Amino acid sequence: MALGKYTRVENRRSSSSYCSTVTIVVFVALCLVGVWMMTSSSVVPVQNVDVPQENKSEVKGQEKVSEVKEQASETSESKTRQFEDNPGDLPEDATKGDSKVTSNQGEEKQEEQKPEEKTEEKIEEKVEEQQQQEEKIEEKVEEKPEDGSKPETEDGGNKSEDGDSNTQNGDSNSEAGDNGEKKSGANEDENKTNSDENENKSEDEEKKLDNPDETKDGDKVNGQIEEKVEQNDKESGGSSGEKKEDSQAISQSSTEVFPSGAQSELLNETTTQNSSWSTQAVESKNEKETQRSSKQQTVYSWKLCNSTAGPDFIPCLDNIQAIKSLHSTKHYEHRERHCPEEAPTCLVPLPEGYRRPIEWPKSREKIWYYNVPHTKLAEIKGHQNWVKVTGEYLTFPGGGTQFKHGALHYIDFIQESVPDIAWGKRTRVILDVGCGVASFGGFLFDRDVLTMSFAPKDEHEAQVQFALERGIPSISAVMGTKRLPFPGRVFDVVHCARCRVPWHIEGGKLLLELNRVLRPGGFFVWSATPVYQKKAEDVEIWNAMKKLTKAICWELVTISKDTLNGVGAAIYRKPTSNECYEKRSEKEPPICPESDAPDAAWNVPLQACLHKVPTDPIHRGSQWPDQWPARLDKPPYWLLTSQTGVYGKAAPEDFNADYQHWKRVVSKSYLNGMGINWSSVRSVMDMRSVYGGFAAALKDLNVWVMNVVSVDAPDTLPIIYERGLFGIYHDWCESFSTYPRSYDLVHADHLFSKIKKRCNLVAVVAEVDRILRPEGKLIVRDNVETINELENMVRSMQWEVRMTYSKDKEGLLCVQKSIWRPSESETVKFAIA
Ligand SMILES: *[C@@H]1O[C@H](CO)[C@@H](O)[C@H](O)[C@H]1NC(C)=O
Ligand SMILES: *[C@@H]1O[C@H](CO)[C@@H](O)[C@H](O)[C@H]1NC(C)=O
Ligand SMILES: *[C@@H]1O[C@H](CO)[C@@H](O)[C@H](O)[C@H]1NC(C)=O
Ligand SMILES: *[C@@H]1O[C@H](CO)[C@@H](O)[C@H](O)[C@H]1NC(C)=O
Ligand SMILES: *[C@@H]1O[C@H](CO)[C@@H](O)[C@H](O)[C@H]1NC(C)=O
Ligand SMILES: *[C@@H]1O[C@H](CO)[C@@H](O)[C@H](O)[C@H]1NC(C)=O
Ligand SMILES: *[C@@H]1O[C@H](CO)[C@@H](O)[C@H](O)[C@H]1NC(C)=O
Ligand SMILES: *[C@@H]1O[C@H](CO)[C@@H](O)[C@H](O)[C@H]1NC(C)=O
Repeated sequence: MALGKYTRVENRRSSSSYCSTVTIVVFVALCLVGVWMMTSSSVVPVQNVDVPQENKSEVKGQEKVSEVKEQASETSESKTRQFEDNPGDLPEDATKGDSKVTSNQGEEKQEEQKPEEKTEEKIEEKVEEQQQQEEKIEEKVEEKPEDGSKPETEDGGNKSEDGDSNTQNGDSNSEAGDNGEKKSGANEDENKTNSDENENKSEDEEKKLDNPDETKDGDKVNGQIEEKVEQNDKESGGSSGEKKEDSQAISQSSTEVFPSGAQSELLNETTTQNSSWSTQAVESKNEKETQRSSKQQTVYSWKLCNSTAGPDFIPCLDNIQAIKSLHSTKHYEHRERHCPEEAPTCLVPLPEGYRRPIEWPKSREKIWYYNVPHTKLAEIKGHQNWVKVTGEYLTFPGGGTQFKHGALHYIDFIQESVPDIAWGKRTRVILDVGCGVASFGGFLFDRDVLTMSFAPKDEHEAQVQFALERGIPSISAVMGTKRLPFPGRVFDVVHCARCRVPWHIEGGKLLLELNRVLRPGGFFVWSATPVYQKKAEDVEIWNAMKKLTKAICWELVTISKDTLNGVGAAIYRKPTSNECYEKRSEKEPPICPESDAPDAAWNVPLQACLHKVPTDPIHRGSQWPDQWPARLDKPPYWLLTSQTGVYGKAAPEDFNADYQHWKRVVSKSYLNGMGINWSSVRSVMDMRSVYGGFAAALKDLNVWVMNVVSVDAPDTLPIIYERGLFGIYHDWCESFSTYPRSYDLVHADHLFSKIKKRCNLVAVVAEVDRILRPEGKLIVRDNVETINELENMVRSMQWEVRMTYSKDKEGLLCVQKSIWRPSESETVKFAIA
C-alpha cells in the first residue's frame, strides 16, 4: 500500500554528450515503518502483506517521488468512456464501456486522492522529524485494519466487497494481528494478491518483529488514510462503497483500482516534499518481486531481425508475404499496412556507420548519410534542389521540390494569398499529403504550426525516413483503400504540393477523405502542376478537379502564383454549413448515411460520400477553436459537464486535472530529475495519450510529440487536436508506421500493464526498441510488477537504467537505449523477398 517509497537511481554519464546530464543521487537511509498485520500462514492470504516492511529508505530526487503519485492514473477507466463528437450522444457514450468501475469511479477517485496526499505529507514529516513520527506511528498502529480491508477490495474487484471492507474499518481499532486474521477469513478473493506476496510470509513477519519501527510507520499512514476516508464519507454521504474505494486506492494492486488511484493523484496532490523514504517493508517487498520476476523471465534471448528491409524494417509495411498475395495493387494496397499475425520479437539491426543523429535545428539542413544511406532519392531529386549528398552528409538545400528558393517564402506566400490562414494563430495543426522529405512541415515550425506529414513507403526510398531523421514529424501512410488514422474534422489546413494523388477518380473518394479530416471552414492548399501548367494532362486534371470541388461545395478562394518559386496554388475552403450540400442539383457525391461516424478511422474502407457539417453550436466542428496558443489550455467548448471524463470527473474538470497533473510531473520531475538533457530531445512519442496533457506540458521545449490514442481506449484524439496538438490512432499490438530509430524519447503511462493482457509484451518492447534511437530514452509509469518486468527486459538488452522509483505499487522507470545489438539473428519469414 501507499506507505513505503523505494527509489533507485542509477546515473551514469555516457561518453557521448547526448547523455551528458547527470542526476545527483542522494541516498538517505531512513527508517520507515511498514504496516504488518499479516497472518503468517502461507495458505491464508494476508492483507498486510501488500505493505512491505523494510527499514531502509533511499531518498532520491524528491520531485520524482511526488510525481510518482501523480502518475498512476486513469488507465483502466479510460477504456470505459468514450468521447464522441456528437454532444447529444456523449453522456451516454461516456458511460458505456465500464461495466465494473464506472458508477463509483468519480467518488472513488476523490477519496483516494486524499489518502495519498496525506501519506505523502506524513512522509515528509517523517523525514524532518523522525522521532516525532515514531510516536505517532505507535498511535496509528491501532488503526491498521483498513489495510486489511483494502486488499480485499482489490482482490474481489466487486463493490459488494465494500461491505466487507466497511466492516473491517469498523474493526480498525483492533490490533494488526487481529486484522490479519479477520481478513484472511473474510476474503477468499485475496488469494490472488496474496499469492504474489505469499512467497514467504513467515519471513516478513519475522522482519516485522525485528523492526517495530516499520510497523509504526505503516500504521501512521493507515491512520491518516482512515481519517480521510471518514471525511470522504461525510462529504459524499458516507456510502459504504466509498470507503472501499479509498481502500482500493491505497492498495491499488488490482488494475481496476489503478485508475482510481491515479485520478486521485491527478486531482489533488500534496506538495512535493524534499525527501521520500522507503520503508524496509517496501524495499524488501520490491526486492522479492524483482527476484520473482527475474525468476519468471529468466533469460530473454534477443535476436537480430533478418529481413530484406534490413535496418529499415517496418513489420507492418514490409510484410512481403502478405503483399505478394494481394489481388491488386491498383489502389496502393501494397503500401498499406499488412501486419503479421504475430508481431516480431527480434531487434532491428543498425546501419553500418550509424552515428548519433545531428540535432535539431541543424538536422533540418543536413543529416548523416550513413544513418539513412539511400542515394536513390538524391539521384532522382538532386537536380530539383531537394536533397544532395555532400561528403558524409545529406543536405536539404532550400527545402523540398516546391521550394527552390526557400520553404519559408512559399509558406508566407500562402498566407499572403489567403490571410485568413493566419499561420500559428487560426491555423495550428495541418496535414501535409505526400510530403516528400517534409521540408514544408519542417519550416512551418518557424510559424508555430504543427504539421502531420505523411507519404507512402515508396520507390523514392524512404522520404519519410529522411524527414524523421531530420526531426520533422511524419508517418508512412498512403491514400489507398482505407481511411487515414485520424479523426474527422481535425486539421485546420490540408496541404498537398505536387502530390500525385488522383483526387478526381472513383467518385472523388480520395478528396472526400481529405474532406473528412478537414475542419469545416478549413482550407485545402493544392499546389500541383495542374494549377499552374497548361499541358494537356494538367488541363484534364484541372477540369476534373474543378468539377469535383464544386460538387463537394469547396469554395475556390484563390489561385495565386509564387513567382519566386515558380509554382502556383489553388486554395479551397470547406463549407461551414450544409446549405450548399442541400442546394446541389445533383446529389453526387452523396451525403454519408447518419450511421457513418466520421471519426471512425481504424481500418475503415474509404467511402465516396460527404459528411454533413455539424451545425449545432454544442457540437465539435460548429465553431473554430480559439487561436493558438489559447486553445492549448482551455477545455474545448464541446466538452460538456454532463459528460464523464476519462478520470471520472466531469469532462472539462477532468481535462484540467490532467493538464495540471502533467505540468506538475514534467516540471518537477521530467525536466530536471531524471538526467535527461532535453536540448537533445526532438521527437517524442507518447504511447498512451489521453487529453494530450503530457505533450501540452512540453509546449515550451523544442520538441514535437506524437500523441497515440489506442484503438481500445476512449477516443480522446479529437480533444488533442482541438487544443492544437496532433496524434494518431494505433494499436500497440502491431508495429507503428514509422521507420526504425525515429524517436528520441518514448513515454508510456500505464500502457504496458494493459497491453500485456492483449499481446506479447516482448514484442511491444521490441517495437519500442525499433522506433527509439540509440541513446534515446524510455519513460514508463506503471504498476510495480510491470515496471520490474520491463526493467529486466530492457536490462537484458543492455539498456542503461537511469532511474527506477516505486511507491504504493506504482513505479517509474527511466532508461536509455544503448547501441548494443544481439549477435544472433532470426529470419523473419514474412519479410523476406
Ligand atoms: C545538452 O545537450 C546540448 C546539445 O547537445 C549540449 O550542448 C549541452 O551541453 C548538453 N547539456 C548537458 C548538461 O550535457
Ligand atoms: C462480483 O461481480 C461479479 C460480476 O458482477 C458477480 O458475478 C459476482 O457475484 C460479484 N461478486 C461479489 C462477491 O459480489
Ligand atoms: C485461495 O486459495 C485456495 C488455495 O489455493 C483456493 O482453494 C481458493 O479457491 C482460493 N480462493 C480464491 C478466491 O482464489
Ligand atoms: C519460503 O522460504 C523457504 C526457506 O527459504 C523456502 O524453502 C520456500 O520455498 C519459501 N517459500 C516461498 C513461497 O518462497
Ligand atoms: C528500521 O529502521 C529503524 C530506524 O533506522 C531501526 O531502528 C530499526 O532497527 C530498523 N529495523 C530494521 C529491521 O532494520
Ligand atoms: C487540493 O488541495 C488543496 C489544498 O488541500 C486544495 O486547496 C485544493 O482545492 C485541492 N484541489 C483539488 C482539486 O482537490
Ligand atoms: C528541498 O531541500 C532543499 C535543500 O534542503 C531546499 O532548499 C528545498 O527548499 C527543499 N524543497 C522542498 C520542497 O522541501
Ligand atoms: C537471412 O535470411 C536469408 C534468407 O533466409 C538467409 O539466406 C540468410 O543467410 C540470413 N542471414 C542471416 C545473417 O541469418
